[in-house]
Amino acid sequence: MNIDLTGKVAFVTGGSKGIGRSIADVLLDCGAKVAIMARGQSDLDKAVSELEGRRPGNALGVQGDVSSYEQLASAVQRTVEHFGGLHLAVNNAGIAGKPGLLHAIGPENWRQVLGVNLDGVAWAMIAEIQEMVKAGGGSIVNVASVEAHTILKQFPAYVASKHALIGLTKATAADYAGLGIRINSVSPGVIRTPLTMAAGQKEVTDRLAARIPLARLGEPDEIARAVVFLLSDLSSYTTGTDLVVDGAFLLRE
Ligand SMILES: NC(=O)c1ccc[n+]([C@@H]2O[C@H](COP(=O)([O-])OP(=O)(O)OC[C@H]3O[C@@H](n4cnc5c(N)ncnc54)[C@H](O)[C@@H]3O)[C@@H](O)[C@H]2O)c1
Repeated sequence: MNIDLTGKVAFVTGGSKGIGRSIADVLLDCGAKVAIMARGQSDLDKAVSELEGRRPGNALGVQGDVSSYEQLASAVQRTVEHFGGLHLAVNNAGIAGKPGLLHAIGPENWRQVLGVNLDGVAWAMIAEIQEMVKAGGGSIVNVASVEAHTILKQFPAYVASKHALIGLTKATAADYAGLGIRINSVSPGVIRTPLTMAAGQKEVTDRLAARIPLARLGEPDEIARAVVFLLSDLSSYTTGTDLVVDGAFLLRE
């Protein structure tokens, strides 16, 4: 991808697998130094060694859970100590939660999904923005979903979390524009990742895939390229917007 991010430091949550992993690849290819945060240590180690193989000395892995503000703040801190600053951030970690009607899934599943998909992004932004203010500006992309624009039956917590994420993105974009920090979101359609290919999720994925006008699932790097465009100066006049990358999934008769 023909974008030069040399000298920039990026932080990506959920960077060990799926869309986040692909975002880390594209960022490295564009010259950035990249820290990825994820929960599982073995997936994280594997991803970091592959990223280091791509551009030695330019990748860092930090294990942690985004639903804990303390773990997120310390991951951002480690990134800054290791690479000397923070300029770009992608808040990508997200979970679908258990399928079911709201009254059946109960408060625990609700809290878990909102804790990762909404609190986790807000906590990340608090930690990231403190560093971007010190750096004199920055660019943040939050990974939302087409379910921020429509609904997915029996996933009420997921749908609510992604709708709220768009609101958080717009509100903060306006608040931080004067400080040189741009904040946008990307809404993927149905993308081929461990999340959509998981045994319990495959049936939902197949049902959704059947109605995509481009007649195929999206690939993680097709989302990654949109994210990196919004992170880069190519989108210097774009803030508070959501870029839908969905093969026209949302367009229905
Ligand atoms: N795959 C799709 O079709 C699709 C569609 C729309 C939106 N999205 C969104 O894209 C994002 C990435 O999805 P994906 O399909 O790549 O998921 P994935 O399950 O394949 O990968 C998720 C990554 O997030 C990390 N993660 C999950 N919970 C975490 C937590 N609590 N703390 C830290 N890291 C955590 C995992 O370790 C992993 O690295 C999510 O926000 C998801 O909602 C995905």
